[in-house]
Amino acid sequence: AAPLRVALLGGGTVGGSVTRMLLEQADDLEQRIGRRLEIVGIAVRRAGRDRSDLGVDPSLFTTDAQELVTRADIVVELIGGIEPARGLILRAMEHGASVVTANKALLAEDGASLHTAAAEHGVDLYYEASVAGAIPILRPIRDSLAGDSINRVIGIVNGTTNFVLDAMDTTGAGLFETVERAQALGYAEADPTADVEGFDAAAKAAILSSLAFHSRVSTEDVHREGITGVGARDIQAAQDMGCTVKLLAICEKVATADGTGISARVHPAMIPLTHPLASVREAYNAVFVEAEGAGDLMFYGQGAGGDPTASAVLGDLVAVARTRVTGGRGPGASSYANLPVLSMGQA
Ligand code: NDP
Ligand code: HSE
Repeated sequence: AAPLRVALLGGGTVGGSVTRMLLEQADDLEQRIGRRLEIVGIAVRRAGRDRSDLGVDPSLFTTDAQELVTRADIVVELIGGIEPARGLILRAMEHGASVVTANKALLAEDGASLHTAAAEHGVDLYYEASVAGAIPILRPIRDSLAGDSINRVIGIVNGTTNFVLDAMDTTGAGLFETVERAQALGYAEADPTADVEGFDAAAKAAILSSLAFHSRVSTEDVHREGITGVGARDIQAAQDMGCTVKLLAICEKVATADGTGISARVHPAMIPLTHPLASVREAYNAVFVEAEGAGDLMFYGQGAGGDPTASAVLGDLVAVARTRVTGGRGPGASSYANLPVLSMGQA
């Protein structure tokens, strides 16, 4: 069968890692999906930039993303921001492509219209990488916990601010010098204001709330306070009390005059060193989910950076590709019956 055509929009921190991993794992992915994935183009903004480190045919790079999305089965959007990302995703869907994206800003602002468009055109929309990088959290909430009732989701969901607060706590480093280090490591957004002012965490809180509480929550519904007001004195005061400062996203069901409502907020908080969230260091993220039947669940892992985020993007890509191969009828090539038998060794 013909390969599935994959168009990548963006070849930066995440797009670069996705490209490399797609090439390195091409044979394994083909076996898992039942069809080969072929990169048909990578849309970028700057045409003349040297991208030889990605190891792809230079003719695949294009600045014409509008054209690229019309000739793909799956479009992976890794540009970020609202436009042109939204227009490109909608255009891709109109042309019958399924979409994978890591774009929390867009999902949190306009997730409803993207979902509506996906349903109208009968295509998939997956966005696991948009919250907490490598950590599988959205599909567990959306799928595995679909039969349960979630009461609260609380987490550290921004790697940059956790990296900064951790450095301030352990080395006494200043906020702005540490943000520059986070940028160099590929954690921070193109404009790090989104990280330090809490917009990024608020977008993630909106996505988590929407999925956990089966409701429409957008970034503007989330109360937001970033970390720019946190200074050395606050860090010291927290230490004196046996605490540490973390930027938390707290999404919960609350009682209202009409029954049950939702509260979603992002703000710095002092937490005791004995609390599990206190041990979340550097750019790591952690998310607690409290559900009626399941009780407390905790998810932990790398919340930012090219390769960790690419892992989540590729997971979505495989899921979307399998749906296209099987027409949505079961797990396809992932079915146990189709797997090769490997020889067993001694540890
Ligand atoms: P980068 O800034 O590193 O990369 C953005 C890419 O998009 C670049 O290749 C850029 O081209 C390209 N681009 C920008 N504008 C356009 C345009 N108008 N047309 C075509 N291409 C364009 O961003 P990241 O890789 O860090 O982030 C990508 C997405 O992933 C964002 O939504 C972000 O929020 C999300 N994300 C990022 C994480 C991270 O740790 N970095 C983690 C989780 C999600 P050029 O190379 O020419 O500049
Ligand atoms: N800038 C984001 C962060 C990237 O630092 O968490 C991951 O979404």
